[in-house]
Amino acid sequence: MVIRRPTRWSRRLPTLLIMSLPRRSFLTLAAGTAAVGSALPITAAAAPPPRLDDPFTLGVASGDPLPDAVVIWTRLAPKPLEAGGMPARTYRVEWQVATDENFRRVVRSGIAPATPDQGHSVHVDVRGLEPGHTYWYRFRQGDHLSPAGRTRTAPAAKSDPARLRWAVTSCQNWEAGYYNAHRHLAAEDLDFVAFLGDYIYEGRPNPNALRTHEGTDEPYSLTDYRNRHAQYRTDLDLQAAHAAHPFICTPDDHEIDNNWADDIPQDPDQQTPEAFRARRIAALQAYWEHMPFRRSSRPDGPDMQIYRAFRFGRLLDVPVLDTRQYRSDQVRTLAEAEAPGRTITGEQQETWLLDRLTSSPARWNVLANQVMWAQNDRTAGPAESFDFDNFDGYRWQRRRLLNEFRQVRNPVIMTGDRHCTWACDLKTDFDHEGAEVVGAEFTGTSITSGGDSDPVAFHRTYDPIMADSPHWRYIDNQRGYLIMEADRKQLTTKLRLVDTVTRPESQVRTAATFVVLDGVPGITDVSA
Ligand SMILES: [Fe+2]
Repeated sequence: MVIRRPTRWSRRLPTLLIMSLPRRSFLTLAAGTAAVGSALPITAAAAPPPRLDDPFTLGVASGDPLPDAVVIWTRLAPKPLEAGGMPARTYRVEWQVATDENFRRVVRSGIAPATPDQGHSVHVDVRGLEPGHTYWYRFRQGDHLSPAGRTRTAPAAKSDPARLRWAVTSCQNWEAGYYNAHRHLAAEDLDFVAFLGDYIYEGRPNPNALRTHEGTDEPYSLTDYRNRHAQYRTDLDLQAAHAAHPFICTPDDHEIDNNWADDIPQDPDQQTPEAFRARRIAALQAYWEHMPFRRSSRPDGPDMQIYRAFRFGRLLDVPVLDTRQYRSDQVRTLAEAEAPGRTITGEQQETWLLDRLTSSPARWNVLANQVMWAQNDRTAGPAESFDFDNFDGYRWQRRRLLNEFRQVRNPVIMTGDRHCTWACDLKTDFDHEGAEVVGAEFTGTSITSGGDSDPVAFHRTYDPIMADSPHWRYIDNQRGYLIMEADRKQLTTKLRLVDTVTRPESQVRTAATFVVLDGVPGITDVSA
């Protein structure tokens, strides 16, 4: 083996490690990227930063796939629960992208700075990739090599893929149980994973929980949120899911504060506007630092560009919604929920969404969304009660959007938040049985939130309400995720359930299958 030592930096590698690296190693990479390295904001005169203990404790991830690009991510954190445990210095992180898992054919490589102000996170927007291809990636810092991740680019914009397959996930409260669902998700054959919010929970640690949150209180500061994200990310099943598939993520409320709405916290009597603004800035910064988002989503103060869209050839378009940053505050009564002018998306996002949907050339238009659109009565009989945090609290806007769905080709919504599975037909008016069906909504269950459930008690409560809610086609309250598969004839959704989250292992099974046919709004077939 010829060992090339083109840079001062790679010379610091212990010989033993160099010899153990795969054939086309990082040394080749360093040779090709010395120019990139010299562009980093580190002066040659500065003393090298101190050596690190293993900084790759949080694993690797990829996300936001485009036909020619994907974001690869890691964060240097030798002490994950102690604000990362990094010296306040900039570190250089090498990265490689290869077409094989042994990194014999490296096609892209470079060096990225990991800076203290970004929590030593690394987001590399790898460009110049082939559409619809699988790649492997990894990082190196000093003599530490990260685990390898696998990712996949989107198909070419004008291509017409025969099939796409993805997962729908949300709500992974650490304290509620083990990430068995993620372990099975890692083994699925997927083009991407949609994560629809509640990636972390901001609850204070409960010493009686199955696994206890770090810290002593709810997170408020940037360090608090970094520690909370880092704790979640130490989970090896979650790391495996990220290392196996690119993720498309959007936050919901618990990444910041339960039921927050724009600049209003859950409990305005306990958090001043200034305190909540600082909290939102900290929470969004930590969220960005831990998610494989593109730089265009990097927060600017209290604002983060979360709504965005992904096209998968002519088969699938995925607009990703943000239903927190621009929403009107929650209401308490049905009359208030009907009030004109109330919005859950803000005007600008609504315009963007409707433009995207009505001009989309894709056969399937599948929204990545947080809270339920379909009406969700919680009381049996003629009386009704609603959770006004979801679209039931924004009826004026919901009606307008669902009317617009008539102009959209095969609109389908994937939703998180509910900690239950709710397969629904979307109608222009949920209170009239004969109202037009304009689309379908699949509310996925949760990875852990809610813990192991009692399906008997759930059905005792909700089956009578389902009798009055004919747009509900299937309901369930067990833990797991959805798998969606689109082809030119139909969109098939499978409900995948784990047996338990209270033990760190479980089987997975398909509990129900739902079919939406091309050109036929709503759910055509439910089989369980
Ligand atoms: Fe949740």
